[in-house]
Amino acid sequence: MIIRQMNVSDLEEVARIEKVSNPEPWTYADFEDSLAKEDGTILMLIAVDEVSNQIFGYLVLYTASGESEIVTIAVAPDFRRRGIAEGLIEEVLDISQKSSLYIEEINLEVRFSNEPARKLYEKCGFEIVGQRPNFYHNPKEDAILMKRIVNA
Ligand code: COA
Repeated sequence: MIIRQMNVSDLEEVARIEKVSNPEPWTYADFEDSLAKEDGTILMLIAVDEVSNQIFGYLVLYTASGESEIVTIAVAPDFRRRGIAEGLIEEVLDISQKSSLYIEEINLEVRFSNEPARKLYEKCGFEIVGQRPNFYHNPKEDAILMKRIVNA
């Protein structure tokens, strides 16, 4: 498996994985819009098989003045629990150490009942910093707010 930047030829499969992974999924057009912005503050990574180019998972991160947010992350159902999401988050941390993308902290929201994601973030060093009532729709649910300090 390798992790590389997402490009437009990945979007069909990325949008397909997103649709089966998130109750309020990003559309093909949402990914396309983010990709078109490419101003150095948006990181769009995918985990792929380097031989077959099969897409296992992806992560999209927005950054403004050192504050980043994971806006979407998912792994295709058949490839979960193999360390792929953890690898994507580690890659973000690695990039922030080595490149000009300066990240002070990473924030995110997660559905209260999303145990796999909450456990993933916990394992990756995120801490709960708040709760937003009824943040999500379809179904209505609170968001847990989590944060990880990267470069204090
Ligand atoms: N139950 C409990 N803990 C889980 C878990 C599960 N189903 N899935 C992941 N974890 C935790 C574990 O601590 C795991 O480490 P371990 O396997 O050594 O115990 C750690 O997260 C890393 O797991 P990893 O294999 O890297 O996660 P993944 O590649 O399966 O991806 C998600 C995790 C959440 C991205 C994946 O389940 C997914 O795509 N879910 C649907 C989309 C989603 O909910 N996105 C997050 C929105 S906020």
